Amino acid sequence: MLPRAQPVDADAAQQQQHDETTARMNSIIHEIRTLYDANTPLFTKDAIRKVGEELERCRKDAVDGRSVTLQGINGVDYEVLVSLPPIQYTLSEEQHVGGSTWVIMYNSIEHLTTERNVRTFSPNTAYLPMIIATCTRRIKPHPEENELHASSTEELGKAFHEIEQKWKTSEYYDKLQAALATVKTPIVLDKVIGVALGPLIIRTLVNRRSIIQHALISAIESILLQRGVLSVSSGRYVQDPVYTQRDRDVLCSAGFTILDDPQAFLTLDDSSILVSINPDIPVKQIVADICRPSIIIWPRKYDSVYQPIFFEGG
Ligand SMILES: C[S@@+](CC[C@H](N)C(=O)[O-])C[C@H]1O[C@@H](n2cnc3c(N)ncnc32)[C@H](O)[C@@H]1O
Repeated sequence: MLPRAQPVDADAAQQQQHDETTARMNSIIHEIRTLYDANTPLFTKDAIRKVGEELERCRKDAVDGRSVTLQGINGVDYEVLVSLPPIQYTLSEEQHVGGSTWVIMYNSIEHLTTERNVRTFSPNTAYLPMIIATCTRRIKPHPEENELHASSTEELGKAFHEIEQKWKTSEYYDKLQAALATVKTPIVLDKVIGVALGPLIIRTLVNRRSIIQHALISAIESILLQRGVLSVSSGRYVQDPVYTQRDRDVLCSAGFTILDDPQAFLTLDDSSILVSINPDIPVKQIVADICRPSIIIWPRKYDSVYQPIFFEGG
């Protein structure tokens, strides 16, 4: 005789799975916190370089469902699937998607050690300080009183120049000069690196804020060159995956070298000056792990340590 079928309690089974995943997640979070407290770095140049190489492969050959190998803070390699965005965003007028399709998502310690939604939690990505994702970042321009529009690269270049010149007559520029007048460094520096300074233009709207941040890089370079703090062979470099070809063309004409993520972090060293204003990646945590730039200019407040809008691969 067949045994009588047991009634399946679907709710109880679901609850059990939920409890098991929660316990697993909390144990992983505890393990990551312990590793971090024992000074295990989240970001090393070697690990950043390897993720950069995987990113390059994704960019060159953008197929859906590519498998990449990424290392966790626990030293274990994980195979992660990188997918194309599941839906196409319909952008409203004031939103903007930047240049790069594939980006490195840098996960802060806060992100890695915060409880996540149990339904989307994956032990396969839970340990990863860096993930490759398809970018669907949206940036809203800051509302301005006197909006300035540019419809060609030439117009944008002209606007860049005018905004820079006007800023150089402002009290802020005087304050910058005064602040840099006494700076001394034990070694001669050889580069100024700007990270996450934003796009120069959003659709046709000129982004003054970003232009001034780029002008700040040029100003720091020329003031410190005159004072001999920077060597005559120094350069100025900028990295922001949101740059479009138009941004790149204008920045190149203005003497900047554009770095593709993660080259800014690989180039950054003790003889660098770093400027990073309101990045939406944990720049402070990355820099703390990889080097000690001689001069750092960044806001006192914390970086955004939780992720911006992305579709995550895997
Ligand atoms: C909140 S916006 C700030 C932009 C500008 N600094 C400002 O103050 O308006 C954050 C910027 O971080 C940039 N960003 C994100 N990931 C980055 C990366 N890996 N390297 C450099 N910049 C990055 C974004 O593209 C965006 O332009």
